[in-house]
Amino acid sequence: MPPVTPNMPRVVLVEPDCDHARKIARVLVKEGFALTCARSGEEGLGTIEETMPDLVVACTELPGMSGGQLARRLRLDALTRNIPILMLTEDASPGVEREGLESGADAYISKSAHPDLMVLRMRALLREGPELLQVDEASRLRRSRIVIVNSPREDEDEEDVVEDVPETTLGELLWRDGHTVTSIERSDDLIEGGWLRGADSPDCLVLELGSGEEDLKFCRLLDARRQAVLEAGGIPFRTLGIVEASRFRRQSSGEFFEAGIDDLVPSDIALEALAMRIRTLAQRRMAQDEFRQQEIERQQNALTLEAARAKAEMAEALAQANMELARTNEQLLQAQSKLVQTAKMASLGELVAGIAHEINNPLAFTIAHADTVTRTLKRLQGVNASDEAMALTKKGMSRLESMKLGLQRIQNLVLSLRRFSRLDESSFQKVDVPAALDTALALLAHKLGPGIVVEKDLQAPAELVCQPAFLNQVVMNIISNAADALADMSADGDVVRGRIVIASRLENGRYEMSISDDGPGLPHELRTRIFDPFFTTKPVGTGTGLGLAIAYSVMEAHDGAIEVTDANLPGGHGIGACFRLSLPVRMTEEGPVATGRAA
Ligand SMILES: Nc1ncnc2c1ncn2[C@@H]1O[C@H](COP(=O)(O)OP(=O)(O)OP(=O)(O)O)[C@@H](O)[C@H]1O
Ligand SMILES: [Mg+2]
Repeated sequence: MPPVTPNMPRVVLVEPDCDHARKIARVLVKEGFALTCARSGEEGLGTIEETMPDLVVACTELPGMSGGQLARRLRLDALTRNIPILMLTEDASPGVEREGLESGADAYISKSAHPDLMVLRMRALLREGPELLQVDEASRLRRSRIVIVNSPREDEDEEDVVEDVPETTLGELLWRDGHTVTSIERSDDLIEGGWLRGADSPDCLVLELGSGEEDLKFCRLLDARRQAVLEAGGIPFRTLGIVEASRFRRQSSGEFFEAGIDDLVPSDIALEALAMRIRTLAQRRMAQDEFRQQEIERQQNALTLEAARAKAEMAEALAQANMELARTNEQLLQAQSKLVQTAKMASLGELVAGIAHEINNPLAFTIAHADTVTRTLKRLQGVNASDEAMALTKKGMSRLESMKLGLQRIQNLVLSLRRFSRLDESSFQKVDVPAALDTALALLAHKLGPGIVVEKDLQAPAELVCQPAFLNQVVMNIISNAADALADMSADGDVVRGRIVIASRLENGRYEMSISDDGPGLPHELRTRIFDPFFTTKPVGTGTGLGLAIAYSVMEAHDGAIEVTDANLPGGHGIGACFRLSLPVRMTEEGPVATGRAA
């Protein structure tokens, strides 16, 4: 026995007759098939499931499970469904053949047929390709298209003419079976034209064949046409030849298989058996067509899915870009409001400086004159005068004291205005931050009272080179504001209770300080306005609204920033406000030095 190689077609032969099995085996092995034999249907089933062959050749008459039952079992199993089955029978009666084909066999051959013919039939089955699906419901709904190609009429006189093919009757039978049947006369022109490919191409061509060279040539031309259809990605039609009975038995019909025919039957075959074979061939073509359709659909679905995925990715990228755009826009708006604020401060600074100067001069001599008037009135009291004059002098003195208080307030306001407008003039000095903070808290002690606890968490270096205004005005005003906010929260008469937390740290080249309280906090709508000069919520005469405006300018002069957020101190009374001050610093041997404009 020649060695089995992976490329050899693997065949399982199920044949109980040892002699016949040996005879067939000899031929098949010689022809290059890798053969496994089984003696019964049950044994055959086991071998098939184990070896998964390319083809099964089974006898119809088997002990126990019949060939038809075996074929049915194979067709029921998804794994073995696509293995082609060739049935062998001793009995050529159409009933047996019909049973074999109906059970799912693909082709049928008599045991008495020449072994070469069997080999040719096997090769034709293997040629059909692996995607042989059972016809599903969709395919069953479509009528198969059968074309009967009759020999040309002028051949009628010739010797080999097939006279006994009952063409009309076959057509009728197929038509009753539910096929679409067309009967045409053979001519070489048939090969041309588009009818053999495309959506309406026939499933099976039934060829009436004589013995002339013309018939073989026609078969070859048809086969070439099938190849072309295959190469163009289509499913080629099947061909079945009806050959004159005596020629079929003379075994010279093998050349038709070589010319590409799929199945060959003798002209004296029972009509029913012939119809059965045609149906089997047509159904296999339809099944392949269906499979290809499904494959195209699958590919289209995959493409649609891919397109949808790409679309989703694009949408995601777009959303991402939109988010970045929104973020940039937000930053732009912030930068813009900062610019507006800076410009506002600059122009206000000039205006305020002018007003302060104008007020300061008359204020200076008014205060000086007020002092002179006070001294004059005191001297008048020493002079012996009438009671009435004494009473008037006293009244004048008391009004003068009130005037002095008013003048004092004007003087303080002018001082604030001058500080606000002349920040650039103050120089940078080394400041001991904790000590400066203690001084500020001592100055504010009256405002803080006994109920307000001040906590300090100072982690930044103690010494900082900056404008003293940073601590004297900015920090002091923020602490003073926090004390006011806490006082607003407490009920009348109660001791003000609250907490102020001052924290500092050096981070990423910035000196950061935060001052938080647990007061009522700042509503969002006020946050953009509190840095405006003269913005205050305090009663008239209590606040000037300049504290945070000055703070903003001081921070500007340091190239730093001031912002307000919710404080949310743990265990605090209210949400509270948190003012964050951030100064860029460069580190020197002496410690951090603020890198402001004036530095
Ligand atoms: N810690 C805080 N909690 C609640 N509101 C605050 C706080 N700090 C400031 N504010 C609000 O910001 C406003 C502006 O403060 P700013 O210091 O500029 O002016 P002022 O304190 O009203 O007056 P001035 O400081 O000139 O005496 C205040 O009137 C107050 O409404
Ligand atoms: Mg204030």
